Amino acid sequence: SQENLDGIYAFAVQLGKDAGRMLLDAARLRYSDDRKLEQDHVEKDNAVDLVTQTDEDVEAFIKGQIAAKYPSHKFIGEETYSKGASRAYLIDDEPTWCVDPLDGTVNYIHLFPMFCVSIGFIVNSIPTIGIIYAPFLSQLFTACRGRGAFLRTHDGPPQPLPLVRHPVPPMPAKAPSGCVFSCEWGKDRRDRPDGNMHRKVESFVNMAAEVGGRDGKGGMVHGVRSLGSATLDLAYVAMGAFDIWWEGGCWEWDVAAGICILQEAGGLVTTANPPDDPSTAPIEDVRLGSRLYLAIRPAGPSEMETGRQ
Ligand code: IPD
Repeated sequence: SQENLDGIYAFAVQLGKDAGRMLLDAARLRYSDDRKLEQDHVEKDNAVDLVTQTDEDVEAFIKGQIAAKYPSHKFIGEETYSKGASRAYLIDDEPTWCVDPLDGTVNYIHLFPMFCVSIGFIVNSIPTIGIIYAPFLSQLFTACRGRGAFLRTHDGPPQPLPLVRHPVPPMPAKAPSGCVFSCEWGKDRRDRPDGNMHRKVESFVNMAAEVGGRDGKGGMVHGVRSLGSATLDLAYVAMGAFDIWWEGGCWEWDVAAGICILQEAGGLVTTANPPDDPSTAPIEDVRLGSRLYLAIRPAGPSEMETGRQ
């Protein structure tokens, strides 16, 4: 019921804040004591798939809080699944929490501040609540289905997303002049030079490199980014900071919260490759478990008012 959902939303926001606080405390220790930097992470599937004690501690905290408050809900957490639980399609119709305790683990290890906790709550396979908190940046993104998406910065008042106002409609309706793209490299680097990841990253880079823009009418892509946190990528597309994001190797915990936030902000997320020509992007419903995601920012407020897309 709506009342239940409000209660779960409030619980999830507090949980995100508490978990983010743990991340911040752990990160501060890393900045202040360089003994902590020595081998405080271990490899999982390969040399770029890493886990720290912080990932495990924060996941255990979140899992414990949820189990105490909502014992009948399912829990899917990155570290729980890395420890051998089945990697088969994970989401079903049960109310399920889908959590990445520390997204951007490599950033955290390297003291690059783009890391966050991501808490998604999924009902009937639909991301229904999303909390993303990047404590080092003091950015708390929250959304609940039907209630909009918000950003609180430095504990300020909630600001509705999107925040960045764009004079042009979002891709794929418009050529990429003036856009900022984000594209992650993922953790599986077995791709060949003619493989999917190479080709897709290359298509982004090519669009950025074209002098005069794709349409030859001037203007170019403003920038291409790779943050190292799929979760923050989605939050920044929802904010309007990024026009488009693509990644080809995400797990449910990377995207569950971000999908809810982006959809509530009015953006679009689909399971597709970035097309060679973005204006022909196929739009299909996002399906958790696809591993392949393309996100497109919301229209700016003036576009929404005039009904243009
Ligand atoms: C990873 C990050 C990275 C993305 C990977 C994710 P983790 O999550 O979001 O940017 O490329 O696909 O698995 O390991 O930092 O939680």
